[in-house]
Amino acid sequence: MLKTRNCGDLRLQDVGLTVTLAGWLQRSRDHGGLVFLDLRDRSGVVQVTADPTVGEAFEVAEKVRGEYVLRIEGVVRARPEDTVNPDLATGEIEVLAQSIQILNPARTPPIPLDDDGYKTDETTRLKYRYLDLRRERLQRNIILRHKAVKFMRDYLDAQGFLEIETPILIKSTPEGARDYVVPSRVHPGKFFALPQSPQQLKQLLMVAGFEKYFQIARCMRDEDLRGDRQPEFTQLDLEMSFVERDDVLAVVEGMVSGLVPAVAPHKRFIAPFPRMSYGEAMSRYGSDKPDIRFGMEIADVTEPLRDSELRFISEAVAQGAAVKCLLAKGCGDYSRKDQDTLAALVKAAGAKDLATIAWTAEGIKGNIGKKFAASEVEAVAALTGASEGDLACIVVDRPATACKALGALRLEFRDRLDLAPPDLLAFAWVVDFPMFEWDEDEKKWSFMHHPFTSPRPEHMHLLESSPGEVMSDAYDLVCNGYELSSGSIRIHDRELQSRIFRALGYEEEETRRKFGHMLDAFEYGAPPHGGMAPGIDRLVMLLADEPNIREVIAFPKTASSVDVMFDAPSDLSPRHLRELHIRTSD
Ligand code: AMO
Repeated sequence: MLKTRNCGDLRLQDVGLTVTLAGWLQRSRDHGGLVFLDLRDRSGVVQVTADPTVGEAFEVAEKVRGEYVLRIEGVVRARPEDTVNPDLATGEIEVLAQSIQILNPARTPPIPLDDDGYKTDETTRLKYRYLDLRRERLQRNIILRHKAVKFMRDYLDAQGFLEIETPILIKSTPEGARDYVVPSRVHPGKFFALPQSPQQLKQLLMVAGFEKYFQIARCMRDEDLRGDRQPEFTQLDLEMSFVERDDVLAVVEGMVSGLVPAVAPHKRFIAPFPRMSYGEAMSRYGSDKPDIRFGMEIADVTEPLRDSELRFISEAVAQGAAVKCLLAKGCGDYSRKDQDTLAALVKAAGAKDLATIAWTAEGIKGNIGKKFAASEVEAVAALTGASEGDLACIVVDRPATACKALGALRLEFRDRLDLAPPDLLAFAWVVDFPMFEWDEDEKKWSFMHHPFTSPRPEHMHLLESSPGEVMSDAYDLVCNGYELSSGSIRIHDRELQSRIFRALGYEEEETRRKFGHMLDAFEYGAPPHGGMAPGIDRLVMLLADEPNIREVIAFPKTASSVDVMFDAPSDLSPRHLRELHIRTSD
């Protein structure tokens, strides 16, 4: 090794030792004849002092610059009491340099490497990611990620799970996004698809008899990106045989409950994780991934307003609309402009408009507050607990649309009013999902989870007659407004699997072509099985208190799916394209 000790590990007990350190120069200061160098390696930072009386080291110290790679030999000594730095783990000592060797000089980094660097345009940060990653915060995140993954591996190993790798070049998997595809050179015109998840492979491993499988699985999905989505991301993919729903939930809940104190001890969580049905999550929080760190639940005020003089309400209710209300405590003084912003939000979420009632010292206000009959205002107050100073946000629409719109508003109030305690991880299970959802664009039923999810046995008879009423054995783990993990009990019966494909409108021939291997496997003694796949990026993002998953991924893509460091995707040479039998359109 070029070094005998790590910078960040040195303490008072090392005083008197001669050490050789190697790392990067964080910064240097020239103070009254002495030069102080902050030397950094992965373990942290230590102060090195170069004294002009130690000639050679001092001369080098005077000329080195930020991010130079240095090897320093010196003696550890205690700092004089008035120069102790309590903010630094090594703040009680310093190293008196005897020799300084420049292992490699460095140009001035194009991005600041202190916290100001976060204000730099993200594309530049990602172009120079190898420098960006030198920041303490990102180093901490990547180390946390390592610890989290190690915890998961150890936990699952102790529970008898086997880690098994599955191929990356496969055939399309229906997880709801577009596939990334890879052309085959040896089979002209044919393509592999990259896995959106190892879903089918893990089920086939159950047919193969492995009983408990997991994998730190890379998944690729060509979909529109958001802060919590990347085109390639990592799942803790797991699958178990001979289980029911609660067995899978117990494994994941046990793992997560052990993981949080082990790697993020400053975080609180409530155990056991609360459970709610999909229907309950939608009606109480307007979201299938509710943030339950705070209350502010959606109330149903349809009954007292059913016969309202306000025709837009009574007529809509007569046609099946619901009147849903979110009470914002202390927001009764919101200006017209604020209320317009809220209205724009509910409209963006698909609802028609927002009606508001404000309880103020001067009486009832709000955009149409005065037009409600006094008895109606009182009934709304009784149902929501409104009192002076509050603002009721009311949406009249199809029940699901109204709840979804108020769900979006609820998150807006969370951020405006700081309602969510930042140190709390509010995990919750969402269960009892509908099996299918209506795809308005395609005018057909599509699967809500994936087509291998088992319908609830008591709903099998509704598969063909009322697909919309069929509940599935799917479950999600949510936390702080994010979907962390999805899973289900699977179909293991060939006939039922064919029925599901038929219900989804697949032709027999198409089913055979796309999923013949699964149907065949189910004919050779497939065990009952189920599983789940927590998203590791999202989980680590929450543990690390980061606002998006790019901060916990070493080399993420930009928000427009580009790798700016490699400049990928990129052109292929005409020869390469010919070899792959590909002709581009321009
Ligand atoms: P699903 O598609 O719900 O289920 O994915 C499971 C979890 O993976 C994470 N995730 C993502 N993370 C980052 N970027 C993305 N683009 C992205 N997409 C998904 C989320 C999500 O909860 N095969 C099933 C699992 C199963 O049934 O066992 C599946 O992939 O945290």
